[in-house]
Amino acid sequence: TRPIRIAPSILSADFAKLGEEVRAVDAAGADWIHCDVMDGHFVPNITFGPDVLKAIRPHTQKFFDVHLMIAPVDPYIEAFAKAGADLISFHVEAGPHPHRTLQAIKAQGKQAGIVLNPGTPASAAEALIQDVDLILLMTVNPGFGGQSFIHSVVEKVAQVKALIGDRPIALEIDGGVTPETAPLVVKAGADALVAGSAVFRGGPSAYAGNIDAIRKAA
Ligand code: DX5
Ligand code: ZN
Repeated sequence: TRPIRIAPSILSADFAKLGEEVRAVDAAGADWIHCDVMDGHFVPNITFGPDVLKAIRPHTQKFFDVHLMIAPVDPYIEAFAKAGADLISFHVEAGPHPHRTLQAIKAQGKQAGIVLNPGTPASAAEALIQDVDLILLMTVNPGFGGQSFIHSVVEKVAQVKALIGDRPIALEIDGGVTPETAPLVVKAGADALVAGSAVFRGGPSAYAGNIDAIRKAA
């Protein structure tokens, strides 16, 4: 069995103590830290920007998986790269020049990922696949934590896995991931799982158990 990366989304953390929360999920066994950036324009919610990322960066050595739900994307890439992102992913729906955005992320020396909303077909990844390190498939409509997993996306996970073939590209899933839904997407080919509410529920003393439960189910 291949290793499955668990990426807690700090969207579900206590924003009043983000540094502590990041240290807590690090100690609880998180593989990556998933950072959800929302602009109130591409998605109907607003979270945080590069300065917040920079503030939490010293609290962990873990890989920062930065999910940009913003439009436009390109003017902000350098700021997120400098703030400490290891990988920057953006939505193919966010603009007409996704390949230019990939080039801009690579120019910063960072890994690059593309994200597909539930309503976007697998084929949207085809023309970009040679230049990405990660493909993220949304299993909720982006904007909020705690939504229900959209089961119809599971078929697309298998389609994108087939497109990836044996290329070294991570296939990540985001939205409604729980111990119940994790095995569905892992079976279809996912190797990285974002989880917000399923990790942060119950407070810091529950994080290790919550992460383990997803890992074991996967
Ligand atoms: C949704 C975000 C997700 C979200 C996941 O717009 O991209 O990362 O925080 O939260 P849960 O796991 O609660 O669905
Ligand atoms: Zn996300």
